[in-house]
This record gives sequence, C-alpha cells and structure tokens, in this order.
Amino acid sequence: MELDLSQFYRVMAPRTTIIITTVNLKGEINAAPFSFTMPVSVNPPLLAVASVPTHHTYHNLQETGEFVVNLPGEEILEELWITSESFPEGVNELEKAGLTGKDSQIVRAPGIKECVAQLECKVVSDQECGDHQLVVGEVVRVTARDDSLQEGLLAVENTKPVLHLGGKDFVVGDHRKRVI
Ligand SMILES: Cc1cc2nc3c(=O)[nH]c(=O)nc-3n(C[C@H](O)[C@H](O)[C@H](O)COP(=O)(O)O)c2cc1C
Repeated sequence: MELDLSQFYRVMAPRTTIIITTVNLKGEINAAPFSFTMPVSVNPPLLAVASVPTHHTYHNLQETGEFVVNLPGEEILEELWITSESFPEGVNELEKAGLTGKDSQIVRAPGIKECVAQLECKVVSDQECGDHQLVVGEVVRVTARDDSLQEGLLAVENTKPVLHLGGKDFVVGDHRKRVI
C-alpha cells in the first residue's frame, strides 16, 4: 500500500520517548514529553529534539539555552501523559503529574527523580525545520539509576523504556533478543 506523505513518521515508530524539563527566566518549571529525538554525536556528546515552536518547552529553551532530558519507564506512563496536557504557561507539569524535581548540577532546570536517567543539556544550535524547530543540545552531565545498565547496555528488564507509537499508544520494551 502507499501511504499519505503526512503519515511517514507513523512507520518510523515506536520512538524513544523522553520528558524534557526546562525553566523560564522566572524559574518556573515546565515538563513535556517528546519523541522526535535522537543522539547525533558521541564526541562531543550531542542530541537533537524537534519541537513545535509554540511549545512552552521551546520558549524556555530559547530563553535559557538549557534543558534536561529525562528517560521515563513504564511505571510513570500515566504521569508522562499528564505532562503532555496543554496547561497555561507557568504551570508546573511535574506537580500536576505528581512527579518530583531532582536538582541538576550544571543547568537550572531540575531533572525528574522518578525517571531512569537525567541528561543535563545546553543548547548549541536551533534551526527551523519544516513545522518544527530542530534543537541540538550538548549533554553536560548524565545521571542514571544504579540498575539502569547491564554490561554497558540499557537494562530494559529493569528500566522498561517507553516507546511512542502515536496518540495514546505506546510500546513498553521489557526484554531483549540478541541476533545470532
Ligand atoms: C508521547 C508524546 C510525544 C510527543 N513528542 C513531541 C515531539 O517530539 N515534538 C513536539 O513538538 N511535541 C511532542 N509532543 C507534544 C507535546 O508534548 C505537548 O504538545 C505538550 O503539551 C507541550 O508542552 P509545553 O507547551 O509545556 O512545552 C508529544 C506528546 C506526547 C504525548
């Protein structure tokens, strides 16, 4: 079958889902999930996120140049969904979702305590990309739960990463299979 071009990203799924935390210049905390995201360089450590320009997250990124990428597990999927709701600017989605801020060391935005890992990032580039803004961040500090890695790889059995299919549908990965 041939698909409508507007549906191309539906087959590029399921996608790693993160929650980005930011603050505005007043220090008000914002949190929202993103799945248009990927690592783009190892040295220096860079990742990319595509954001609709009207999002509070993008506004805060522009104001402060800083953000935290949080990796959620299955146990906070409902909370993740609450952070995606459209609250007025200045509303702290972490409080709305019952999640806990975790102090960062290098950036002002807090991480999320209930997440598997927290990547503190500084914006290094921001360019218009169709109907999104493509923001590249340099990872300046990474923290992760003690049980998050096994032989240097993500321990999916422990972390149960959340992958976005689209809309309210997710895939939760809890086992790995090795090719022969
Ligand atoms: C699982 C999931 C993934 C999402 N991924 C993206 C994304 O990659 N880029 C984007 O601009 N919005 C994405 N959204 C939508 C935003 O999270 C949502 O519009 C949110 O309200 C934006 O919040 P903010 O205005 O506080 O930044 C996603 C939503 C969900 C539920």
